[in-house]
Amino acid sequence: MKKLAISLVGAAVAAGALYAIPAAAQFAKVEDAIKYRKASFTVMANHVGRLSAMAKGERPFDAAAAQNSAKIIDLASHLPWEAMVPNSASGDTRLKPEALANAAEFKQLGDKLQAETAKLVTASASLDTLKAQMGPTGGACKGCHDKFRKD
Ligand code: HEC
Repeated sequence: MKKLAISLVGAAVAAGALYAIPAAAQFAKVEDAIKYRKASFTVMANHVGRLSAMAKGERPFDAAAAQNSAKIIDLASHLPWEAMVPNSASGDTRLKPEALANAAEFKQLGDKLQAETAKLVTASASLDTLKAQMGPTGGACKGCHDKFRKD
């Protein structure tokens, strides 16, 4: 148990160190950052689509598949943010410049998404709980798109 606690602390320190590196340094070019975040959203949306089909009864509910999708969505909800690098609101992107200018508000909406996707992992165990958690999850997507994504 003590060993586990120590390795968890180690992981937290490593994660902290990662955050300390300026995000822009992770991408050679602005276009790479744009591709990275779009790819993260594409993966996220694909799995939201699968869960949504189950929630609507268009596909039979399968707990293992639902859990798998929910875990992928939860993981993906942590990915796009480091790719919101300076000068990345022009080019092949729908990011509004306001998102970079209002980084704190943008981050808050990202945190909100992560709170909902974490709940989705537990909720995906049964059809009823999945159905109940799809609304708040979709709401977190929409809340940010309405404000910070171009049509
Ligand atoms: C905090 C803000 C925020 C949240 C929350 C958010 N998105 Fe997005 N999303 C964006 C922005 C900004 C873009 C535009 C990215 C770009 O074009 O560079 C985007 C783009 C996308 C795209 C298009 C990707 C592409 O290839 O062009 C999809 C699909 C998407 N989001 C789905 C989702 C889904 C599904 C959720 C919720 C589960 C979600 N997003 C939550 C901000 C957000």
